[in-house]
Amino acid sequence: MKIFKTIESLQTGLSLIDTNMSLGFVPTMGALHQGHLSIVKKAKKENDFVVVSIFINPTQFDKADDLKAYPKTIDNDLELLKDVHCDFVFIPDVEDIYPENVKSSNFDFDDLDKVMEGAFRDGHFDGVGTVVKRLFEIIEPTKAYFGEKDFQQFQIIKKMVEKDHMAVQIVPCEIYREKDGLAMSSRNTRLSEEQRKEAPLIQQTLLKCKSIYAEREISNIKKMVEDTFKDNDILDLEYFEIADVQTLLSTNDKLPNIKYRAFIAVFAGKIRLIDNIALN
Ligand code: PAF
Repeated sequence: MKIFKTIESLQTGLSLIDTNMSLGFVPTMGALHQGHLSIVKKAKKENDFVVVSIFINPTQFDKADDLKAYPKTIDNDLELLKDVHCDFVFIPDVEDIYPENVKSSNFDFDDLDKVMEGAFRDGHFDGVGTVVKRLFEIIEPTKAYFGEKDFQQFQIIKKMVEKDHMAVQIVPCEIYREKDGLAMSSRNTRLSEEQRKEAPLIQQTLLKCKSIYAEREISNIKKMVEDTFKDNDILDLEYFEIADVQTLLSTNDKLPNIKYRAFIAVFAGKIRLIDNIALN
């Protein structure tokens, strides 16, 4: 496994790879866990060569505290990546990614960014779009891999690629969970023992939504979710939506031939956890 800290050195490394080889790319912000590794393994299976980036992107954080508290575990990350036979790791500096100023570009994601995470995290998706576009331009991958825990992010990146006619295939990766069902996230390490014990309620609630989806009205499912978290002293519901998977627009009706997902964001103290589930 080779480690590159500058764009120039990475591009020299990439220029030595046979141009017929397929290049899989997994962007990350580090603090890697088994969920990330399952994505790297999938990328390894589907490509001749895999690049993983580790970059905590400042422009996608709307709160300075959250950026500061983001876990940094670079030595452990590199060990884990070596174990799954990652080929190249790219660890750029902020100045490399943002040579002029640390600012997002403005994107038109056809309003996919206006709801859910976008409504609660100001400028988040412009920040994600800016860094992912920059990384795609530097690496020029054949396929890039995104976890479905951030389903809205996955749809937004697909939209960006489609609109900008970028030659990269965006591949979704199933949510990887702890044994008790909590979706794996770098933020989970910040949970207290008590918060960690309660956190599986998030997926349990989503599973309940799925099981009652066919026979209940959407308003009734929403009420069930709200009541579940009202009764809980540790977890605070930020939003729960049932939305069309393509438009991400929230719905109160189940229209035929439309696929819906339930999306949830919950606070455990200051730690924000998200999850989602396919309903039909
Ligand atoms: O999902 C993430 O970890 C980040 O949003 C990404 C895609 C690496 C961009 O910074």
